[in-house]
Amino acid sequence: MAGQRLDGDLELTLRPKRLHEYIGQERVKERLGIFIQAAAQRGEALDHVLLYGPPGLGKTTLAHIIANELGVNIRFTSGPAIERPGDLASILTNLEDREVLFIDEVHRLSRQVEEVLYPAMEDFALDLILGKGPGARSLRLDLPRFTLIGATTRPGLIASPLRDRFGVLIHLDFYRPEELEAIVLRSASVLQCQVEREAAREIARRSRGTPRIANRLLRRLRDFAEVRGEGRLTQEVVEAGLELLAVDPHGLDQTDRRILRLMAESYQGGPVGLETLAAAVGEDVGTVEDVVEPYLLQQGFLQRTPRGRVLTSRAWEHLGLVPPPNFAQAQSLPQQLQFEEPVDRR
Ligand SMILES: Nc1ncnc2c1ncn2[C@@H]1O[C@H](COP(=O)(O)OP(=O)(O)OP(=O)(O)O)[C@@H](O)[C@H]1O
Ligand SMILES: [Mg+2]
Repeated sequence: MAGQRLDGDLELTLRPKRLHEYIGQERVKERLGIFIQAAAQRGEALDHVLLYGPPGLGKTTLAHIIANELGVNIRFTSGPAIERPGDLASILTNLEDREVLFIDEVHRLSRQVEEVLYPAMEDFALDLILGKGPGARSLRLDLPRFTLIGATTRPGLIASPLRDRFGVLIHLDFYRPEELEAIVLRSASVLQCQVEREAAREIARRSRGTPRIANRLLRRLRDFAEVRGEGRLTQEVVEAGLELLAVDPHGLDQTDRRILRLMAESYQGGPVGLETLAAAVGEDVGTVEDVVEPYLLQQGFLQRTPRGRVLTSRAWEHLGLVPPPNFAQAQSLPQQLQFEEPVDRR
């Protein structure tokens, strides 16, 4: 759709190009800045980088920035796009010295393709098997020194031999409200849209810790302000617009609330399995696990237990419901999804 493409283009213009324009994630920027400078001083390729964290936090953006800062080209592909080992071999042999190869959804590479990647990452070499049967010979082909940047929302699904070959592991976590406020102000100035400080703060508070959502809310509220107001984003306009967009004061959207409500009303607060929840709200398990759950955990609305997900008292309060008398108080402590134990897919 034209509208969608326009939004996609806007997402591109809103993307920071250099490290100093990338807002927040201070520790990440500091570390990356050092590694990039060190590699540049030695005239070497940067070590392979794995970027992981929930969707919309800036992994793809950071990959572009790394290539820009290194002053090299970046080639794009993704786990599911590389179907056969030969596809990867041809990408690798076409790289130039010190270039960046970005593999999005790197957890979705097939086992056979991964096997080609191991010697490529470690020894910058490609092992080719010539011929078949007892007469087969293997031939080692040298590759240029390149930097692989892998991105994933599911680090737990990456096989450990692959994970171990990344020299730089970067975990992107949800942004703080002040950081999102700065992102909203920056995007508003790129879009030449006037936004009051308080209004920017409100958008930031309701963006689920996620720059992509902050930018999306900003664009929708700009529409709202242009049609219903005078184009300027004031606190009032933002509140009315967010109400219309069904984004609540905590930034939870309809899917978040449906899941919490379902757990309360149909499962007495849990524990309930992720598959059951996903099926009941008509979402796929991956979406619930990658997109919905991490923020609810981080905000202390949900807890993960070995028997399933449980509502916390904060969630009951938020829903305006009273927990059943036998409800074991799950603590409203923020929980994070760090590296889950890798799942062996063989
Ligand atoms: N640190 C940041 N500063 C400013 N804008 C940011 C930052 N991080 C992300 N953005 C904005 O958020 C948008 C989404 O970021 P990006 O596409 O890099 O996320 P992602 O982590 O790759 O998401 P996915 O997992 O869905 O691929 C970008 O277009 C960019 O405008
Ligand atoms: Mg991305």
